[in-house]
Amino acid sequence: MIEPVSEQKRIVVTGQIAEQGISVLRDAGAVWSWDHSDPIPLEERDRRLADADAAVTLLTDRVDDAFLDAAPNLRIVANVAVGHDNIDVEACRGRDVIVTNTPGVLTDATADLAMGLLLMITRRMGEGERLVRSGVPWEWGMHMMLGTGLQGRRLGIVGMGAIGRALASRAVAFGMDIVYHNRNPVGAEVERRLEARFVPLTELLATSDVVSLNCPHTPDTHHLLDAAAFASMRSDAFVVNTARGAVIDEAALVDALDRREIAGAALDVYENEPVVHPGLLGRDDVALLPHLGSATSETRGAMAELAARNVAAVLDGRPPITAVG
Ligand code: GLV
Repeated sequence: MIEPVSEQKRIVVTGQIAEQGISVLRDAGAVWSWDHSDPIPLEERDRRLADADAAVTLLTDRVDDAFLDAAPNLRIVANVAVGHDNIDVEACRGRDVIVTNTPGVLTDATADLAMGLLLMITRRMGEGERLVRSGVPWEWGMHMMLGTGLQGRRLGIVGMGAIGRALASRAVAFGMDIVYHNRNPVGAEVERRLEARFVPLTELLATSDVVSLNCPHTPDTHHLLDAAAFASMRSDAFVVNTARGAVIDEAALVDALDRREIAGAALDVYENEPVVHPGLLGRDDVALLPHLGSATSETRGAMAELAARNVAAVLDGRPPITAVG
């Protein structure tokens, strides 16, 4: 017997996600999705949330009291991202709304991109590409665009979760020496496997040739790299950020680059995304990508599917697969 639509659970998807996720959601309830690349207008969002049992959200959505007020029946917010600083998790908890994210499935894609950014900035790839595209005449030169080799250089990883570890194993293959800082050391076995050593943040910043941010954005990590942090770094060091923009004080980064306190930065994420600090745009000592960390077809499919499976579980009265908190 076909269940009448009125008795189906209502699922709102606030933006475009892979079909792999939509098909799982269709088995779990009546799905409405905003199928446009521009953000859903708030009025439309709130109208759709009014009778929603579940919401599938993107990292560009703000899930705050206003969102929750619009969705009195909501049981789950399934964020299609591992980061969830776009969600007021406490507010959700206060209303018995479960929050889930998509850890694991995007680890390799994000670590690959971090390694790519690391190479891009240390070997001046963006700058070289811009030169070729510019049409300005150039010739191979012994001293042309010399970069920094990675072998024997120290990579300081801030945040040794799954992505930090995956980056460490890639960087070891490039001959880098790994130190890391984390809330807690990751344990002797993992350290041995990754050839990584726990150090205090101050030591990591003062001694690393490349500092990579792989931690979540929380009140504790907000502006972790500020003016004082940049001043404590080596003047030939680079920063790579594939975590969240606001872990860096972007204005302080521009000042540090202007003062040559550090050698460069490679960023996939921005403090006021998608706005990029104008002081970063014109310079060659930065590499800038538009938040592509998890952007492979396979990964985005897996993220959508995991978010959808979380929704299906909760609507079915089962525990979520990857709950936050
Ligand atoms: C991407 O930035 C994510 O958090 O999944």
